[in-house]
Amino acid sequence: MWREAGLGGVRVLIDAGPTYEDIDPVRFLGNRSSGKMGFAVAAAAAEAGAQVSLVAGPVALATPPGVARRIDVRSARQMHAAVMDAVADADVFIAAAAVADWRVADYSPRKIKKGPTGAPTLVLIENPDILADVAARDPRPFVVGFAAETDRVAEHAREKLERKKLDMLAANRVDEHAGIAADDNALELIWPGGGESLPRAPKAELARALVARIAAHYQAWKPV
Ligand code: CTP
Repeated sequence: MWREAGLGGVRVLIDAGPTYEDIDPVRFLGNRSSGKMGFAVAAAAAEAGAQVSLVAGPVALATPPGVARRIDVRSARQMHAAVMDAVADADVFIAAAAVADWRVADYSPRKIKKGPTGAPTLVLIENPDILADVAARDPRPFVVGFAAETDRVAEHAREKLERKKLDMLAANRVDEHAGIAADDNALELIWPGGGESLPRAPKAELARALVARIAAHYQAWKPV
């Protein structure tokens, strides 16, 4: 039935999961993303007939059935390189990854030891913004972003949609019940000039609803 939603033969590139930013050979900065939402979107897109490429951060998840290609990465810079490498062949890009905004400026190839000078100071520098870099390309795919917000969800999401020049943005409220690393989720879907609330549901179900909206908007947007 989802094939009717119109992703048959459409090339969809998805990034998913967290990124890990190494400090030394045994320590890293990470986040609580499980990758479940991105993997559920990849599964739903494949089910809808899309040719799916999945760039995955460090997650313990099996590749969903029907996903044509999976590229495993660890850091934000590796994820950026893998996405940029694949994006020229994508009709739709879905940025579901929780990309670390910062990495440590100086990776230590040796384990940092405790010493008389006390706790080390970590200097952080900004990572590339994968979503913004894809949206800035010309020509570019149909671009869908995600946003995790703790407050004023709709307002922050609208601002992010415009600032990053996205075609669609799926925002979720992060609290103790849903969002990052949870099994269910609710989404505020927005696009230029409109929006829709997708009510709380298991991530697989929500992903199917999201993919159906992406398919409809992509069909209206795509160059003829
Ligand atoms: N994203 C990305 N590359 C980054 C940071 C974020 O591709 N370096 C993408 C995420 O995959 C997600 C979207 O941007 O689709 C929103 O990420 P978020 O961190 O919430 O947005 P920011 O613009 O960094 O805004 P803020 O941190 O102020 O919420």
